[in-house]
Amino acid sequence: HGADALAPDLGGRRVVISAGGTREPLDPVRYLGNRSSGKQGWALARVAAARGADVVLVAANVEAPAPFGVRVVPVATADELRTAMLAEVPGADVVVMSAAVADFRPASVAADKLKKDSAAEPDSVPLVRNPDVLAELVGERSPGQLVVGFAAETGDADADVLTHARAKLARKGCDLLVVNDVSAGQVFGRADNTVVVLAADGSATEVPRGSKDAVAAGIWATIAPRLPD
Ligand code: CTP
Ligand code: CA
Repeated sequence: HGADALAPDLGGRRVVISAGGTREPLDPVRYLGNRSSGKQGWALARVAAARGADVVLVAANVEAPAPFGVRVVPVATADELRTAMLAEVPGADVVVMSAAVADFRPASVAADKLKKDSAAEPDSVPLVRNPDVLAELVGERSPGQLVVGFAAETGDADADVLTHARAKLARKGCDLLVVNDVSAGQVFGRADNTVVVLAADGSATEVPRGSKDAVAAGIWATIAPRLPD
């Protein structure tokens, strides 16, 4: 549609996108995970490739086939995602962290399956913090590289969605933050979506509700004009 035709082209740009959700193992068969489907990240990759970008998709536990022309690097855990991103981002023009990275992982992984009624039966699962990949990528950002974070937020007694999101953008130090309002609890796994893109310069761009491809096109239309010539 019209907005896409007017948006700057991504030809010659190198884009690295993380998508999906990490899984943190407890034992050989169990993990702590989340409900991220990877659909929005897939749409971002599809749209960027269609607009000429060289796209790498670091995919955490997404079954979908690779979008046409996109190189997929499969990962499982936050640590693997971190390693893959650090390997891929040098030379990238845009880095997009749309993956849902687990904030915590089990402090230890049992070598054998945890069995009921055994000495290994756990009362609780001690957790440790995972590294903040986005913060690390911001720290390593090369000149002119744009780093884009994602945030699924709900309003609460303290503040509304955008107030929380502005604070997160400042805390993370990324150039742009794509904000999903999940107050209604209806983003995960759904076909359509709507977002607001906040920029470090204070601007906010509303991307209207539509398919994840339409939202991806809106997100790229916000990112592309910010790329250096
Ligand atoms: N992120 C990351 N590494 C983590 C956690 C999050 O790179 N260990 C990235 C996500 O991919 C996303 C952004 O950080 O792009 C924001 O994630 P979010 O979970 O909203 O932020 P957190 O700082 O983890 O804050 P919260 O306590 O609200 O979960
Ligand atoms: Ca988090």
